[in-house]
Amino acid sequence: MNSVRNRLALLIFVITAAAVGFMYLYVVPQLRSSLTAEKLRRLEQVAPGQSERIRVAMRDGASEARLRSLVREIDQRTGSRVTVLGVRAGSSGPAPAFVVADSALERSALLPTYPAASAAIAAGSVASAVESVAGERVAETAVGLGEGEEPSWIAVFSSPLDDVDDNVALIRRQILIAGLIALLAALAAGWLVARAHSRRLRRLERAAVKVAGGDFETPIPVDSGDEVGQLAITFNEMQKRLATLDSARKEFIANASHELRTPIFSLSGFVELLEDDDPDPEARAEFVRTMREQVARLTKLTVDLLDLSKLDADALQVRRERVVLGEVAARVVEEFGPAAERHHSTIQVVAGDAAAARADPERVAQIMRILIDNALTHTPEGTAITVETRIEGESVGLLVVDDGPGIEPRSRGRVFERFYTGDEVSGSGLGLAIARELALRMGGSLELRSHRGRTQFELRLPAVARAAV
Ligand SMILES: Nc1ncnc2c1ncn2[C@@H]1O[C@H](COP(=O)(O)OP(=O)(O)O)[C@@H](O)[C@H]1O
Ligand SMILES: [Mg+2]
Repeated sequence: MNSVRNRLALLIFVITAAAVGFMYLYVVPQLRSSLTAEKLRRLEQVAPGQSERIRVAMRDGASEARLRSLVREIDQRTGSRVTVLGVRAGSSGPAPAFVVADSALERSALLPTYPAASAAIAAGSVASAVESVAGERVAETAVGLGEGEEPSWIAVFSSPLDDVDDNVALIRRQILIAGLIALLAALAAGWLVARAHSRRLRRLERAAVKVAGGDFETPIPVDSGDEVGQLAITFNEMQKRLATLDSARKEFIANASHELRTPIFSLSGFVELLEDDDPDPEARAEFVRTMREQVARLTKLTVDLLDLSKLDADALQVRRERVVLGEVAARVVEEFGPAAERHHSTIQVVAGDAAAARADPERVAQIMRILIDNALTHTPEGTAITVETRIEGESVGLLVVDDGPGIEPRSRGRVFERFYTGDEVSGSGLGLAIARELALRMGGSLELRSHRGRTQFELRLPAVARAAV
């Protein structure tokens, strides 16, 4: 019972059984009683008129033979048996006591008990009933034939209900046979349909197991537009996204290890050189300078990779507090003073105190460092750099602009990719990727606008709500 297949099959079986049961136990008895009522209604239609004829004959003192031929004639005409009963006072009031005339039999015994006759005496009017005589049902309608209050005779018109009961029994039998066939068919159809469904689900399950095992290649065939088909489509999309993520992850690892290996190889080369030969002091100083550069590169790369992995793992805490962009800009630009001097560049800050963002001051400073560092390293000496803040409705902007040669059109769309470097300067290509990710994390954005002779990066952050300023 733990499988969808069995449950579905059972459900279909139960529904069919309930439908057959309803037919058998409710519809058939209903049919039987309405057919019986129909028969009684026919008797009640003929009874008053015909009983009047008997009453007149009795009043006129007709002989027994005359009475018998009258009831026979009525029997022939109406198709119902006619019995005239005599009424006598009993211990519990007047009751039908003997047969005066009967259209069907020559007898005087009161074999049927004629409940309709008793009811007609009690009610003083026409009464009907159904009586069981020797296992067969009989419909009866009785009419009192007296002159005064209490009738002295009763005329009973009766008709056997065997045709009704035969019909009902036939219908019952047919419902049983048809029901049995329907149940078997339902069971088989339910089982087949359910099996087809569970097969499709099983296929999905197998595919999921494959994906869990790292196989992103085999898609599930989509064989219909129903819910399971939709699930298959969604599953295939998920598989595609996982495949992309997986290849991105592999690419990242390959790039990262390549980037790490280069400075490490170069460092170990120098260490060997220093160990084996004994270089003169000048060469030695040169080695150490290069080694320091490689160590710095390695350190920066390690920090960047750690930042990226934290961002990917959602483990980076980003605070939300009031950050006056002008203040952060002044502080970061001051840090870059010596570097700018080496590059013969000037960094100008154009900022008012008004531009305040709801952000993390350390992360904003980190983004600025990345942008200013790029403006100094990817441009020729003497390039002028401007850092500017502005307020734009609900957000504040920080622009880092340089009048370097600009970024080539084919690189513009890719500078934010991880490990993408657009020129010969030996960078890791992680700076802008980290900067954009940080901006997004703070609910902002980082966009590039560049043309020949100008490069502009704009960081946008949500502004501090007015009340909080
Ligand atoms: N101000 C700029 N002027 C020209 N090129 C730039 C500038 N900023 C970034 N780029 C280009 O974008 C690329 C990606 O930058 P980044 O992600 O910081 O990596 P990296 O600086 O390590 O190369 C750089 O290699 C460079 O080609
Ligand atoms: Mg950079």
